[in-house]
Amino acid sequence: MNSPELVILRELLDHEPAFVSGNVLAGKLGMSRVGVWMHMGRLREQGFEFEAVRSRGYRLVKRPAGLNPLLVQAHLKPNTRQIDVLCLPEVDSTNDEAERQLASGRTTPFVVLARRQTLGRGRFGRVWHSADNGNLYASFVFRPHLETGRMQTFTLWMGANLCELLANFCHIEPGIKWPNDLYFAGRKIGGMLTEARIDADQIRDLVFGLGLNVNSPRAALPPELARQATTLADSTGHPLDLNRLTAAIIGRVLSAYEQFVEDSHRSTFADLWNRFDLLRGKPVTLAQGARRFAGIAGGIDDEGSLIIRGENGRPQRFHAGETTLDRH
Ligand code: BTN
Repeated sequence: MNSPELVILRELLDHEPAFVSGNVLAGKLGMSRVGVWMHMGRLREQGFEFEAVRSRGYRLVKRPAGLNPLLVQAHLKPNTRQIDVLCLPEVDSTNDEAERQLASGRTTPFVVLARRQTLGRGRFGRVWHSADNGNLYASFVFRPHLETGRMQTFTLWMGANLCELLANFCHIEPGIKWPNDLYFAGRKIGGMLTEARIDADQIRDLVFGLGLNVNSPRAALPPELARQATTLADSTGHPLDLNRLTAAIIGRVLSAYEQFVEDSHRSTFADLWNRFDLLRGKPVTLAQGARRFAGIAGGIDDEGSLIIRGENGRPQRFHAGETTLDRH
């Protein structure tokens, strides 16, 4: 059941910039206009402001800055699959919170969002810088009951979907650096961290973590990061509506997940990957622990392994590791 605040927000957003009459809102909610006024008061407490004009009704004139759970839900498309949205001001890591929520029995799917992480994690135990700067820190939680072998292409499929969404939403052409880095114009804009719990050779719990640099000014990033990373706001030249973007990402992740589980993604996967593959045809080095393999990247195979042709021209396949684009 949607809360009255959510119903009011949806109506006002759907009709922006027009006014919505108090009678229409009261009708939608099945309550008196005094009741509507009371729920609008609750929205005001969260930082929303409304313009009220006699005989025309209400419209939204100000919304709270930063991530807001009601706004995220209000922006979800009506056909979006049902998902529980948990939005926290601060957490150690959304992936860790997802684990705790699973352990306490929360039903899937759900997504954990946070304005800031104190112990944001990247791959290989690295720190993911997670200040409260208008960026996205999200963990999506599913129970797919799929064989472990099926999961090899999961993060790649999600990454390619997110690139397409960002291309449409922000009008930029991002790219993906195998296996989990999202890039724009030679700098990292996001990363994915997929973690799974396996039970009798089946994936029981799947946590898909996504960190995306959205609105923080690049100057606010620590200097070592600012050299290699960028943000969507810096790339597009203007701040983005974080709540609308988050809702669009939730919708896309849910539909991509559904296609993945139904196995209906195979027909589009290769094309989508090839469109956003940053490495194909370029000189790369792959690191696996202390070992290094250098060569020309040749895309991925059906299992999502990276193909690299070394000096002898023979293709080698790698299912794990970290890639660097060689500049020469
Ligand atoms: C990487 O590039 O190494 C992956 C970074 C993943 C960061 C996200 S932010 C949300 C989620 N919570 C975490 O602690 N990590 C992931």
